[in-house]
Amino acid sequence: MSTDALFKPFKYKNLELKNRIVMAPMTRAQSDNGVPTKQIADYYARRAEAEVGLIISEGTVIDRPASKNMQNIPDFYGTEALKGWQNVINAVHDNGGKMGPQIWHVGDTRSSDDYPEVPMEKASTMTLEDIQDTIAQFAASAKSAKDLGFDVLEIHGAHGYLIDQFFWEVTNTRTDEYGGKTLKERSRFAIDIVKAIRAAVGEDFTIIIRLSQWKQQDYSAKLAKTPEEMEEWLMPLKEAGVDIFHCSQRRFWEAEFEGSDLNFAGWAKKITGQPTITVGSVGLEGDFMAAFAGQGTGKTDLSELTERLERGDFDLVAVGRALLQDPHWVQKIKEGKTEELQDFKPESMAVLY
Ligand SMILES: Cc1cc2nc3c(=O)[nH]c(=O)nc-3n(C[C@H](O)[C@H](O)[C@H](O)COP(=O)(O)O)c2cc1C
Repeated sequence: MSTDALFKPFKYKNLELKNRIVMAPMTRAQSDNGVPTKQIADYYARRAEAEVGLIISEGTVIDRPASKNMQNIPDFYGTEALKGWQNVINAVHDNGGKMGPQIWHVGDTRSSDDYPEVPMEKASTMTLEDIQDTIAQFAASAKSAKDLGFDVLEIHGAHGYLIDQFFWEVTNTRTDEYGGKTLKERSRFAIDIVKAIRAAVGEDFTIIIRLSQWKQQDYSAKLAKTPEEMEEWLMPLKEAGVDIFHCSQRRFWEAEFEGSDLNFAGWAKKITGQPTITVGSVGLEGDFMAAFAGQGTGKTDLSELTERLERGDFDLVAVGRALLQDPHWVQKIKEGKTEELQDFKPESMAVLY
């Protein structure tokens, strides 16, 4: 089996990557009081050194009181945290890597909560003033990403967190201009965030948005039930300034709509004409939500993935747990050292290998 397709360079605007492999954003919650430590910088630098094409950071939060649920999730604002991130991007660049932060607000998804006293921000109940400040804070974090020298940024619009809570009719019951019966209407919050970020970072900086149909609250949820609805969702985001769509699935091989084997990233690329990233159980047999229930998983080969990549369904491939487990995963794939690939062990989530 050839994995050559994974090792072709990628170029978009002024972003140049040496291969097609992206480290998926993975929360590690080991940044002391929100400040990324040297251990965190070293952890990302090891992936840069070991040939990961593009690293997306763990979710890192904007300057809103309820934007995170655990103290040791990193902030993307404030002098100390930004100094920590400066060390991270310097270490990644020194090791030949490229990286962007994943900018996040957890909304009312705060299950394991270090901040019970801070009221949650819910899509349905935020005031217009809250919304305007949240948009401004997304833009401020984006501007900081550019100023620190990051190569791209990713907006976390997936998995049932704040932006996704606006997309989803179950969590967005607003009757003003940020709500509505259609997905297009409920996309207004995300669109305003993208526009504000684009205004803050300029035309050349690459903006990625991560989206998912599924929610951690409901794995079977589908925002867009047809390709037409997907077009109404994605095209306004593209027009607002999104460059790359990061299409989160738990298993990349699952078809998005009946009648075609295209997955979410496949449809997003077909509809928007923009580059897309696929993700979900690459190289592994079991999906990632099971990891939080303490389950590990064995390995699989990459033949179906590379076939789809060669076919042009998507441009980039994000890898989560395999890269959390083993910083050298990319090199082992490139060199065909499949006997050295590791199974994923849930205990690894507590360790910065
Ligand atoms: C420990 C862990 C933390 C994660 N944290 C985030 C996160 O902060 N933001 C995000 O968008 N996805 C997060 N995810 C989801 C991953 O980015 C990825 O989509 C998922 O693990 C599927 O990829 P995989 O099957 O290759 O692991 C996390 C996954 C794991 C295992």
